Amino acid sequence: MCGIVGYIGDKKAYPILIKGLSRLEYRGYDSAGIALLENVDKINLYKRKGKVQDLVDFIGDESTVGNVGIGHTRWATHGPPNDTNAHPHYSGNSRIALVHNGIIENYDTIKEALIKKGHTFTSDTDTEVLVHLIEDIQENGGVSLEEAIRIALNEVHGAYAIVVISKDEPDKIIGAKKSSPLVVGLGEDEYYFASDATPIVEYTKNVVYLEDQQIAIVDRKNGLRIISTSNKEVSPYVQELEMELEVLEKGGYDHFMLKEIYEQPRAIKDSLRGRLNAKEGWVSLGGIKDYEDQIAKANRIIIIACGTSWHAGLVGEYYIEDLARIPVEVEYASEFRYRNPIIRKDDVVIAISQSGETADTIAALNMAKEQGATILGIVNVVGSTISRITDAGTYTHAGPEIGVASTKAFTTQVSLLAMMALMIGKKRGTIEDERFQRLIEEMEMLPTKLEGLIEKSNEFCITIAEKYKDASNALFLGRGNNFPIALEGALKLKEISYIHAEGYPAAEMKHGPIALIDEEMPIFVIATQGANYEKVVSNIQEVKARKGKVIAIITKGDTTVKELADDYIKIPDADDFVVPILATIPFQLMSYHIAVMRNCNVDQPRNLAKSVTVE
Ligand code: AGP
Ligand code: GLU
Repeated sequence: MCGIVGYIGDKKAYPILIKGLSRLEYRGYDSAGIALLENVDKINLYKRKGKVQDLVDFIGDESTVGNVGIGHTRWATHGPPNDTNAHPHYSGNSRIALVHNGIIENYDTIKEALIKKGHTFTSDTDTEVLVHLIEDIQENGGVSLEEAIRIALNEVHGAYAIVVISKDEPDKIIGAKKSSPLVVGLGEDEYYFASDATPIVEYTKNVVYLEDQQIAIVDRKNGLRIISTSNKEVSPYVQELEMELEVLEKGGYDHFMLKEIYEQPRAIKDSLRGRLNAKEGWVSLGGIKDYEDQIAKANRIIIIACGTSWHAGLVGEYYIEDLARIPVEVEYASEFRYRNPIIRKDDVVIAISQSGETADTIAALNMAKEQGATILGIVNVVGSTISRITDAGTYTHAGPEIGVASTKAFTTQVSLLAMMALMIGKKRGTIEDERFQRLIEEMEMLPTKLEGLIEKSNEFCITIAEKYKDASNALFLGRGNNFPIALEGALKLKEISYIHAEGYPAAEMKHGPIALIDEEMPIFVIATQGANYEKVVSNIQEVKARKGKVIAIITKGDTTVKELADDYIKIPDADDFVVPILATIPFQLMSYHIAVMRNCNVDQPRNLAKSVTVE
């Protein structure tokens, strides 16, 4: 996601845009830019890699006249962060300027068609294609800017929040929205656009939250008009903002971590966008398409990562070995780099990293590269170091993750690994067609199931957190591809609430940890009705026999564990394949609420950093 602002009125646009971008910088921060419409012949466009302050320094004391303008802080999805890929983007004739938040899924097809018509592009972004398309439609159709935008938006697939200005219609500013957020602020003969209300609230409390496939047309003479992309008039629903600035930045949530937990349905949807289609029966990770053969022929896949990303790698091991039948080793990057490992040229090494800047992971990757292995990345931050040193890679598209405790980055990493396993299994013919189809349908249903699960389980997690917030130790148990989720649950709890917690394979408990169990010890168990269900039930009975407190994650309809456990959280019915993603949610929420009840600094836990760029 990114930050978008726009303004039309009698004030100078420049300070309003810059201040607005600064308020939105938490949403994305790899480059920033503004476009100021001075008059029918002049748009002054400034854009720069880096933060908003870097943009301000770059603009210096340039003339920043103009009462109409747009601005953008980028969270790159297509094309690395640099000056050229920064927004705003111009149309070919530089008469239209546009900023965009989202992903234009079919940008490559549209780009190809526009190139055939003579368009030339300067950036690697999907966004630039959209503004050229609008120009092309306007030029060939002789239509208004809003009509050209409307027609163009009916041609693109994907997510967008855009704001557009044009030299030819200097009294207009137009915004549109689908999947990505866009708010219109209504002032006294002035209007604001922004990704959320934070840049607007100091000027006006009257806002319209655009709905999907709506276009907001503002012009000085007629004010605000809203139409749908199917050209139906929409009467604006004006709301009065009550929230304060600080609360608004977190989207109304108390912490970024909670906001990011709730963003997971959208994040997973973005990670699947354009990569999986159950109706047509395909999975395709474009970023590693050129290496599909190499991965399929690999003798071994080595996954290197740290922390939560390492847990995602463990889930990936279950997926890839089960579906693609390729041996997988998952290594702590910090260990791998120092143990003089055997790395062969036909190995494929995959680095998983949210930040793409973790020092140990980078060092391990460079070592593998020097020894001739193919190196790939699964990264969230576009243009980060890991994404630049790998031969190829695929982005998780989770959007900026501000909370130090990783949540949406983890579940999107697992979803990418699931798609990779499906894609390679299909390629190698090691997965039956029926199972392939069923699993991609399961993946496609994930965002909806996650939505319902988060809504329904949050209250239960608060109750459970209340009961166990004073524990000194905790144990997390899981079997099969849920074992890594037990590790992840333990890491979430310990890193934000400072309660000592360990994750274990449920069967392994008998080999030691069972000695720890007493009535003070909460044991969190993933006991969904899958392949290992009966075995997990026995493990729960072993715990109960020692008076341990069992908090179980169960699937709907389960009566056995419901009777045995002291507390339980239900997750939706789903194939074992996607349970790891679903089962993570209650652990994230319980850890979050326990940490809040213990007055811990949830977003910035003590001693931790969001990206460990030191060894
Ligand atoms: C997880 O909640 C932690 N923030 C930490 O373990 C993190 O996953 C680890 O430092 C790896 O970071 P990366 O994914 O950015 O490489
Ligand atoms: N997909 C666009 C790009 O990569 C917009 C990304 C964003 O939302 O900031 O530039």
